[in-house]
Amino acid sequence: MRSFTFILPLLSELLSICGGDVGDFSPCLNYFYRACPPRGISGIPICQRYENRYHFATLYSHERRTPWFSAYVYSPPKDKRPKSVWKYEPQLANSHSDGNMVPFPPPPEKVDQNVVESQAVQQDYINSTYTRGHLSPSLHHRDSESRNATFTLTNIVPQRAGSNNGPWARLEAKVSKSLAAHCLGDAHVVTGVIPYMSERWLKDENRVAVPEYLWSAYCCWNYTQDLPKSLANMYPAFAAIGRNDPDSSEEIVPVDRCRKKAELGYDVRTMALSALEMYLTQRYGVPVGVFHKQCTRSEPSGRSWEPV
Ligand SMILES: *[C@@H]1O[C@H](CO)[C@@H](O)[C@H](O)[C@H]1NC(C)=O
Ligand SMILES: *[C@@H]1O[C@H](CO)[C@@H](O)[C@H](O)[C@H]1NC(C)=O
Ligand SMILES: *[C@@H]1O[C@H](CO)[C@@H](O)[C@H](O)[C@H]1NC(C)=O
Repeated sequence: MRSFTFILPLLSELLSICGGDVGDFSPCLNYFYRACPPRGISGIPICQRYENRYHFATLYSHERRTPWFSAYVYSPPKDKRPKSVWKYEPQLANSHSDGNMVPFPPPPEKVDQNVVESQAVQQDYINSTYTRGHLSPSLHHRDSESRNATFTLTNIVPQRAGSNNGPWARLEAKVSKSLAAHCLGDAHVVTGVIPYMSERWLKDENRVAVPEYLWSAYCCWNYTQDLPKSLANMYPAFAAIGRNDPDSSEEIVPVDRCRKKAELGYDVRTMALSALEMYLTQRYGVPVGVFHKQCTRSEPSGRSWEPV
């Protein structure tokens, strides 16, 4: 009887290590810091699988036909950027599929209507005024198989060219350079979207939602001791929000008016992880946590109860 009263609190503590349901992320929890997916955002978990290997994780929104975020472990790119061969996820349309992403058939052949219903397809982006913005970028993965796997439309959001080819591309390059030079262990990265207060859609078609901002954050605890002063505030955690609409207000990310015209209004603001979480919490209307205990080094609660 006595041991029973001990077991109950232990079990509930064990289940609440991440403070929530990890859903079907169980095969790919290694992409999350301390195996804990971000808290507060709900959607369809996808363990992104290509040629029978997992490469990163995505939380997908069926209604918006775009990801909320993608999470991965950074590795320095080795091979060159692959040709963009776009892929889709048959398992979103048909639960009997094996979970591997597959390339869209070459036109004029079409994917079946269940696929079109369940996710974004090539047609959505063709002739739109948005480019295909990677959340898990090809540049942050080592081998060509992983880089190829980022070209799935479930990892893509409509992103203005001024952001995708401008400040956001430079942010990705800066993060890559910093992590390649100074992160010795795993860098867990999560990149996601902030939706408009009232949704906007690609080509006004009520199919593919356009984000107002993109955000990105990483957590890396094992880093070099010789950090240059300019990078000191990038460790152990780093966060940023980027504009995807020149007409957005400047409360979250101010605009630098001296930029060249093509990039005007697409600024990226770097900030503390806690500031990012505050903005996400405001817009999502629920407490959002990106990393377990804000990327602190404390042991997960599951470890503390060993000696009973
Ligand atoms: C894109 O626009 C061009 C020119 O208006 C048109 O010929 C083409 O059919 C459009 N393609 C799609 C996929 O809508
Ligand atoms: C990556 O995609 C390109 C283009 O389809 C293909 O030629 C290459 O073999 C792929 N590489 C791997 C490792 O899957
Ligand atoms: C940090 O990373 C290095 C290189 O991978 C490894 O040798 C070392 O054990 C790591 N340190 C800690 C505290 O994990």
